[in-house]
Amino acid sequence: MSAKIISGTEVATQIRVELKKEVDEMKEKHGVVPGLVTILVGSNPASISYVTGKQKTAHELGFYSHQDDQPADVSEADLLKLVDKYNKDPKVHGILVQLPLPKHIDEKKVLNAIDPDKDVDGFHPINVGRLMIGGDEAKFLPCTPAGIQELIVRSGYETSGAEVVVVGRSNIVGKPIANIMLQKGKGANSTVTIVHTGTKDLEAHCKRADILIVAAGVPGLVKPQWIKPGSCVIDVGVNRVGEKLSEKTGKMIPILKGDVDFDAAKEIAGAITPVPGGVGPMTITMLMKNTVKSAKIHAGIK
Ligand code: GUN
Repeated sequence: MSAKIISGTEVATQIRVELKKEVDEMKEKHGVVPGLVTILVGSNPASISYVTGKQKTAHELGFYSHQDDQPADVSEADLLKLVDKYNKDPKVHGILVQLPLPKHIDEKKVLNAIDPDKDVDGFHPINVGRLMIGGDEAKFLPCTPAGIQELIVRSGYETSGAEVVVVGRSNIVGKPIANIMLQKGKGANSTVTIVHTGTKDLEAHCKRADILIVAAGVPGLVKPQWIKPGSCVIDVGVNRVGEKLSEKTGKMIPILKGDVDFDAAKEIAGAITPVPGGVGPMTITMLMKNTVKSAKIHAGIK
């Protein structure tokens, strides 16, 4: 039997409807408008596409939003000054510096310069630590992992006691989603394994997974025979493997492929996310959710 397709597009739309209501209420009752600034350095096509999507959604939800484009050769000092400017701007509740940054800039320094209380990406060491401690301590969960958890919960899979295997150990996805799923509480409480390029037998680990989360950045890495029948497969990979002509716009658009061989995997898994239309739309939505949360905290709204 073919797997249930977990549509991130549909779940993201539901959450955005809920958020729009919340934003309208905040404006009406408290005169508070959530503010988001995205900073893009250079012109990496994938980064432009992500940042454009974030700005578009912020605009649709009625945020105050601003896109700050910087040239690829901007100095680290100037970028740090810019971050500081937005740290001090009361209209701004969320600051996002799109990654990766050019090689001459120390990414860690820039992320550490963002006010942890405006760090809607959840990448500042303080927020990473808060997530690790868990419970009420966690403030801003990183957006892609938060979206993954939401998709698993809404797909109806039991997470408590489940074997969760995470493929990939990045700071943006692998490490935080592993941390989220092992916390005590609803939508988590799982037994978590992280596998990576140093793991001896990837296949053996993946085969044990009730919930398999793949964020390796390697197109088609996970083969159908690695998947436990009936399991939930979350494919975080967004790999640009070529270009094609869009019938809709007549323009060239990227061909995207996940880390999982989707067509074969869907005949074995119980549920699976597609690429595109799976995790991607959730990342943007969780960023909006974090920005609304930040605006509420800054304004003292319960
Ligand atoms: N680059 C890829 N994913 C992300 C993300 O979630 N946030 C930021 N800031 N950069 C990214």
